[in-house]
Amino acid sequence: MPVCLFKPIAHFKADVIKTYLLTVLLFLASSFAGPLMAQHDFVAGNQQSFLLDGKPFVVRAAELHYPRIPREYWDQRIKQCKAMGMNTICIYLFWNLHEQQEGQYNFSGENDFVAFIKAVQQNGMYCIVRPGPYVCAEWDMGGLPWWLLKKKDLQVRTRQDTLFMSAVKRYMNKVGPMLAPLQIQNGGNIIMVQVENEYGVWGTDKAYMSAIRDMIRSSGLNKVQLFRCDWSSNFDKYDVDGVASTLNFGAGANVEDQFKKFKERNPGAPLMCSEYWTGWFDQWGRQHETRGVNTFIGSLKDMMDRKISFSLYMAHGGTSFGQWAGANAPPYAPTISSYDYDAPIDEAGRLTPKFYAIRELLSKYLGEGEKLGDIPAERAPLITLPSIHFTQQASLFDNLPEPKKVKEIQPMEMFNQGWGRILYRTTLPAATAARQIVISGIHDWALVSIDGKPLAKIDRRKTENATVTIPATAKATRLDILIETTGRVNYGKAILDRKGIAGTVLMANGTDTVALQNWLVYNLPVDGAFQNKPNYTSRQTEGPAWYKANFQVDKPGDTYLDVSHWTKGMVWINGRSLGRYWNIGPTQTMFLPGTWLKKGTNEIIITDVQKPDLATVRSAANHIYEIGGEEEKSVAPKTQLIKLASEKAVASGAFSAGKGWKEVSLPAAVTARYLCFEALSPQQQSDQLASVAEMEVIGEDGAAISSVNWKVVYASSEETLSNNTADKLFDLQETLIWQTSAKQHYPYQVVIDLGSNVAVKGFRVLPRVDDKNTGMIKDYRFYLKSTPFLFSALQ
Ligand code: GLA
Repeated sequence: MPVCLFKPIAHFKADVIKTYLLTVLLFLASSFAGPLMAQHDFVAGNQQSFLLDGKPFVVRAAELHYPRIPREYWDQRIKQCKAMGMNTICIYLFWNLHEQQEGQYNFSGENDFVAFIKAVQQNGMYCIVRPGPYVCAEWDMGGLPWWLLKKKDLQVRTRQDTLFMSAVKRYMNKVGPMLAPLQIQNGGNIIMVQVENEYGVWGTDKAYMSAIRDMIRSSGLNKVQLFRCDWSSNFDKYDVDGVASTLNFGAGANVEDQFKKFKERNPGAPLMCSEYWTGWFDQWGRQHETRGVNTFIGSLKDMMDRKISFSLYMAHGGTSFGQWAGANAPPYAPTISSYDYDAPIDEAGRLTPKFYAIRELLSKYLGEGEKLGDIPAERAPLITLPSIHFTQQASLFDNLPEPKKVKEIQPMEMFNQGWGRILYRTTLPAATAARQIVISGIHDWALVSIDGKPLAKIDRRKTENATVTIPATAKATRLDILIETTGRVNYGKAILDRKGIAGTVLMANGTDTVALQNWLVYNLPVDGAFQNKPNYTSRQTEGPAWYKANFQVDKPGDTYLDVSHWTKGMVWINGRSLGRYWNIGPTQTMFLPGTWLKKGTNEIIITDVQKPDLATVRSAANHIYEIGGEEEKSVAPKTQLIKLASEKAVASGAFSAGKGWKEVSLPAAVTARYLCFEALSPQQQSDQLASVAEMEVIGEDGAAISSVNWKVVYASSEETLSNNTADKLFDLQETLIWQTSAKQHYPYQVVIDLGSNVAVKGFRVLPRVDDKNTGMIKDYRFYLKSTPFLFSALQ
């Protein structure tokens, strides 16, 4: 019994007692800490490398996200990363996963990051932890909790908002003490902790970054090496003392170029690419993203040759189960539930050619005495399920929960709902003529119905404000606006993304417009138990509904569910949410982990916004990638030519050859709403492609004007097959570019609606940032107008 151990010590001298206690402590520590339990040190050295116990150390990290992987699979995925040649696992912590309601924390099951980090240590690997508070990661609101949005004037990632800062502090003080014993200096395996995430894309406030650093330190992480990550184009916008700096870039980057300015500014600092993007994420309605092995492996080899530390983002992406997938903006582009990422280890945990290429490469760069981890046994092969037919259903409108009554319409968060669907209902008076209602801030997809009959469907990806004509009615009518949400924006200034109706619903009343009032609000949350509340029957229904079926499984195993007969909704298996589906693609399938299935009878529930063409799901051996539904229909061939002959350019000239931002200034500010950029000729005559990574419009204060409300009005050419559409000009992602189709030739024009009239003093244009030189533009013209440009029909 432990108490006996301490009995005799009363007779010992103080130093003997100390030694005794230390021995007991070390014994206790070693019994749980696993292979790397001894105390070590890890710091950023001053000879361009990190130092592990004083010796140069190249970090070869693999990023995994614990909630994107079923807990039962953690160990196997970690072992796979080790077998790929990694010595470290890098993780984010997701604040909003752990604190889904203010002040209520959950660190169990898939949320148990301490168990995950210990599993990494058991496998003899180090760990890098990135606790946020903001993490991006294509995760709802970048990891920030939705309940913050209840504060009407909320600001985030700034010291100006004391509520935000105190919520961050409370969260850090919760997770810091859990991580502290796992610091490498305390016998754990955490070698580094990241402060915030890519703050340079957002701001330059050194004091904010320093405050987050101090919160991390005072939460108990008082010894570990801290770092931050940014891009080569913005890492120098701010500084944080005592925090090492690293850069993020993707497959095909020119490594020498990426670190050029960094080395000049930080001679001697360790070099690390803290996110080397192995692939990319997918967004609803856009083509599936891939990155070839060859482009990827070349830059990785460059880094190895230069002894540059790296972390593969992602080594295995997994799945954004439930409602965790986020969105990008501008323009609003929600991320799909699959986070396969075209990573070396696919969503189902299978090893891809990228995996083997990395393993082969890294085998040549191992340290002394180091050997590659063994490839762990594959999990059992994917199973095939018999077709599941849905015979039970429940109409949404017949199964509404108790409503809340409010005068003014408000976003979902104000009704204490984080995710899912919400129905707003009001009564319109009788009218002898048709009238119009104007809905603004539709977040994110709406079905407008009158007396239960569908009238309009609105998709925020196309527009978030819509005018709907309500026919004349002899009696008062019931107006229903059902909103289904997709991910909250996780990147850029549009991150305060309230759901439901974030704006107003107005109706024309003579010459006036009035806000519609007196709403009944029905909350339709996403927890598994709620989906079992409706009254399921065999009665067929046309509109939004729940569908339920039971199915038998002999031997549980992983599989993909083919949901291509369905339109838009969510799936629960035995009460756990697989995530969202949408027939616009690119995925027509959802990953179903076998560990969520049981031998015998299983239950599946689906919610859809309309009746499926066949109420059936089947299993599939792989993802089916296909653009479909409304999206497929909306890809119309170009039918217009822009008329520029009578327009006068505000600027024209030739860009210098070579990479980096190009600046164009106007002699005096021009006020305008519409911008036309014209690419007249290429840098190399043989190259008929044009491409641009980012374009900024500079205001009178010399700063870039916000692109949050910009829209592409026209692009004479854009490559839709590889997601190189013209909106990539202002998506704030340097790695994603606008590129013209190989079938066309110069000149090219793109017209952007800036949302409102703004005073423009100049432009900044960034050519592609990878190591390719195609699409480099030479001669250009800019046009500005406060009225729309004119077009003629294409002959
Ligand atoms: C950035 C972020 C990550 C992730 C990637 C893109 O590097 O830091 O969280 O969003 O982009 O996948």
